[in-house]
Amino acid sequence: MFICLCNGIPEESIRQAVREGAHTLEDLSARLGVATGCGGCALLAEEIIDEVRAEMAAAQRRAA
Ligand code: FES
Repeated sequence: MFICLCNGIPEESIRQAVREGAHTLEDLSARLGVATGCGGCALLAEEIIDEVRAEMAAAQRRAA
C-alpha cells in the first residue's frame, strides 16, 4: 500500500527506513521524500514510525 501518494512511497519502504534508523518524520523526509509534497501522509507516516519502533522495542525485550 502506498503511504505517500505524491512520491509513490510504499509502506514497506517506510518500515525498512525506520528499522534502519529513520526515527522521525524529518528523517523519513530526508531519506525517502515522505511528506515533502502535499503533506497529507505525515500523520500516517508518524503512526508507522511509532508502530515499527514499538515492534523493535518489543523484539529487544524478548532478546534480553
Ligand atoms: S502524500 Fe505524501 S506528500 Fe503528498
